[in-house]
Amino acid sequence: MLVDNADVYGEQERGAAESLLGRVLSGRSGWADDLVLATKAGIRPGVPYDASGDHLVAACDASLRRLGVEVIDLFQLHRVDLYTPPEETAAALAHLREAGKVREVGVSNASVAQLDDLERLLPFPLAAVQAECSLLDRRPIFDGVLDWCRRRGAVPLAYSPLASGRLAAPGGDVPPDLTERLDALAAREGRPVTVVALAFLLAHPSRPVPIVGTQRPERLAELAGATTVRLDRADVYGLIEAAQGHELP
Ligand SMILES: NC(=O)c1ccc[n+]([C@@H]2O[C@H](COP(=O)([O-])OP(=O)(O)OC[C@H]3O[C@@H](n4cnc5c(N)ncnc54)[C@H](OP(=O)(O)O)[C@@H]3O)[C@@H](O)[C@H]2O)c1
Repeated sequence: MLVDNADVYGEQERGAAESLLGRVLSGRSGWADDLVLATKAGIRPGVPYDASGDHLVAACDASLRRLGVEVIDLFQLHRVDLYTPPEETAAALAHLREAGKVREVGVSNASVAQLDDLERLLPFPLAAVQAECSLLDRRPIFDGVLDWCRRRGAVPLAYSPLASGRLAAPGGDVPPDLTERLDALAAREGRPVTVVALAFLLAHPSRPVPIVGTQRPERLAELAGATTVRLDRADVYGLIEAAQGHELP
């Protein structure tokens, strides 16, 4: 199981989510080995982005300390810093991997051009690309990011796959046609609409891995059932058309 974190996550203070996970891991020997520990750096509240070499190296060291591990499985650039040359960012990421502090490197919220730039400058391929992706935010399906991942062998990590809960309780700003389609597929499959919403993501040939957020462990078991739901071509296109409110050309 992959657990996604970031140096800025935490209700009270930045880093609190990593510290909490570190405390959990320290209480159970072997847990850190069973999990894929992912975290991110590159956001500095008030700046807001910093992917300079010095910042990334210091942030990685701080994350290692808070998590209480010797190596981070997946270290991700949280956001591309438009005012740091990608050469500098790539050199820092390569240094962290060479130093054995991170096993794999990923990038979050990057365009295809930014992914191309970074991968060209890194001495190894990007292992993962995080992008917001759900039925209510379909950008990576159309902007080439998922295609880039498939072509380059990077794992797409689809964050906010339930649109931060908006898809879990249809109504609100969910288009009525989409609610109707989700309900129909949920009834056909005998699963909750949340599972159908994840199955929609899993149907893409780039094989996205949804990063769900929940405070309730029982939901993880239920949502994992999405891997056994097969939506066909008419199902997925029907969901896209219902979500966007018009037919595809
Ligand atoms: N790279 C980035 O820039 C970035 C940005 C945002 C997020 N992320 C990552 O993505 C993760 C997930 O994001 P997210 O929290 O927006 O994901 P999400 O899975 O789309 O939404 C989670 C929300 O859905 C609710 N939910 C799930 N199942 C439900 C159900 N059956 N009924 C009612 N509510 C339900 C959860 O409530 P409960 O807690 O009650 O289950 C939670 O509030 C984050 O933790 C973070 O790791 C990354």
